[in-house]
Amino acid sequence: MNAPLQGHTVSNPIAAAQALVSVDKVSLEYRTPQRVVRATHQVSFEIDPADRFVLLGPSGCGKSTLLKAVAGFIQPCEGEIRLQGQTVTAPGPDRIVVFQEFDQLPPWKTVKQNVMFALLASKTLKRQEAEERALYYLEKVGLAAFADAYPHTLSGGMKARVAIARALAMQPKILLMDEPFAALDALTRRKMQEELLLLWEEVRFTLLFVTHSIEEALVVGNRILLLSPHPGRVRAEVHSHQYDLHSLGGVEFQASARRIHRLLFDEGQSPQTGRELDFSDVRIAY
Ligand SMILES: Nc1ncnc2c1ncn2[C@@H]1O[C@H](COP(=O)(O)OP(=O)(O)OP(=O)(O)O)[C@@H](O)[C@H]1O
Ligand SMILES: [Mg+2]
Repeated sequence: MNAPLQGHTVSNPIAAAQALVSVDKVSLEYRTPQRVVRATHQVSFEIDPADRFVLLGPSGCGKSTLLKAVAGFIQPCEGEIRLQGQTVTAPGPDRIVVFQEFDQLPPWKTVKQNVMFALLASKTLKRQEAEERALYYLEKVGLAAFADAYPHTLSGGMKARVAIARALAMQPKILLMDEPFAALDALTRRKMQEELLLLWEEVRFTLLFVTHSIEEALVVGNRILLLSPHPGRVRAEVHSHQYDLHSLGGVEFQASARRIHRLLFDEGQSPQTGRELDFSDVRIAY
């Protein structure tokens, strides 16, 4: 057999099967002069390419902290986070975060300039290519007509779309979203969930999505990691790809929501089996 050309890799089925992100027994702490706060305790999960992976748990269980650790802003005090096998030690353009507050868009830049900014600042693209790519993603989120508008003239939902277009324009390996729709009214929030799913159908990006809404987790995610109250530990992981916005209010959907609620909040009860839980797959980790 011929040896592979220099600089080329041999196709390796093990490497191909590798997770995009591996979070391996990760504990995260905040150290203040007075005390140490443990935000998560030995949390493990893996995100595969094109997953819509949701971190779900009560307020204070460490969801945002975990997301920031995957982004590289916080280092684990125990365990390891890997992106395609490489230990995450710092933030990078391969992981882009969309936060809850959309007023992070610089108001003196137009919508298009906002989307172009990171592409130019990181020297990812030259001006003309950056403009083309910005317009491409603005079109994807339905904002092509607002490319030259300023952020203060946009609604909350439109600002959310700009933030998503800006993140996707960087073509990151993974998009990290921390309660991105929490500040929106209920109807706009639902619309944004729908648009996010349609966008995913088209672009097939990998998503790590934080929420404390069980409904939102079931709609947005294909896999949901359930975290215990503070400090966050893994309670279970469920597969939820059978649900979308059309499932809302359905009998099965509501039953799953109730079961997730029980898994999240019933302490000291023996875990149920996957069959009883009615998910296509469930991994309990008490
Ligand atoms: N900068 C900080 N300094 C000290 N402790 C912090 C800091 N940020 C968060 N914490 C603590 O870490 C724990 C996890 O916080 P985190 O913000 O990750 O929770 P969360 O699951 O995102 O909650 P929420 O749903 O309310 O956003 C909490 O107990 C919180 O008080
Ligand atoms: Mg949070």
